[in-house]
Amino acid sequence: MKILVTAGPTREAIDPVRFLSNRSSGKMGYAVAEVAAEMGHEVRLVSGPVARYEPSGVATVEQVISAADMLDAVLANFEWCDVLVMCAAVADWRPKVVADQKLKKDGAGDVMTLELERTVDILQVVGGKKKSQVLVGFAAETENVLDEARRKLVAKGLDMIVANDVSRDDAGFGVDTNAVTFVTEGAETKMPLMSKRNVAAVLVELLEL
Ligand code: CTP
Repeated sequence: MKILVTAGPTREAIDPVRFLSNRSSGKMGYAVAEVAAEMGHEVRLVSGPVARYEPSGVATVEQVISAADMLDAVLANFEWCDVLVMCAAVADWRPKVVADQKLKKDGAGDVMTLELERTVDILQVVGGKKKSQVLVGFAAETENVLDEARRKLVAKGLDMIVANDVSRDDAGFGVDTNAVTFVTEGAETKMPLMSKRNVAAVLVELLEL
């Protein structure tokens, strides 16, 4: 299979020195890319800014910064792929105006207000362009994990969503383990706590079926 994987956070610029982002470390997405390549698949990775070595065996690694950059990179590879695995924690909001120069405190008072606008929903966009590609999302949730995952599966027209409780210390952001449930229209498969590499292997095995 030709598998396109996204990983890591995105950064949305406030000014030349500041940005909005999130706690994604890229570990889950890099594990999916590396394990899928080890399992014999052709893999391209689109990565937000993370401190990680390039995963071995992956054909191309494209580094991007913002949600808009990530959309461009995904669109450029979408026709090529059989499967898109959106592991990336894409920022949902970005500053409406990006300051050309560093914002200064002087004269700004004690309270700073930042106006945000929605970023593009990458899965929603590629959903409209989908031919035979399989779309896989990740749902990082802190409450109502399965209900939210089921809602996103339908709303984003996905073939599978990997529900991920990020309120746990041993799952989700920055750690090497994850506790996920694979959710499709017909089935829910709850996995025990396992390494992100093993989660990746189970995911790829499910995609091979
Ligand atoms: N996603 C995306 N584009 C965005 C935001 C999210 O493609 N702008 C993808 C993520 O990569 C993930 C899935 O959508 O695979 C679910 O992301 P999540 O942040 O959990 O869902 P949201 O739709 O952003 O909903 P909310 O933040 O309100 O929970």
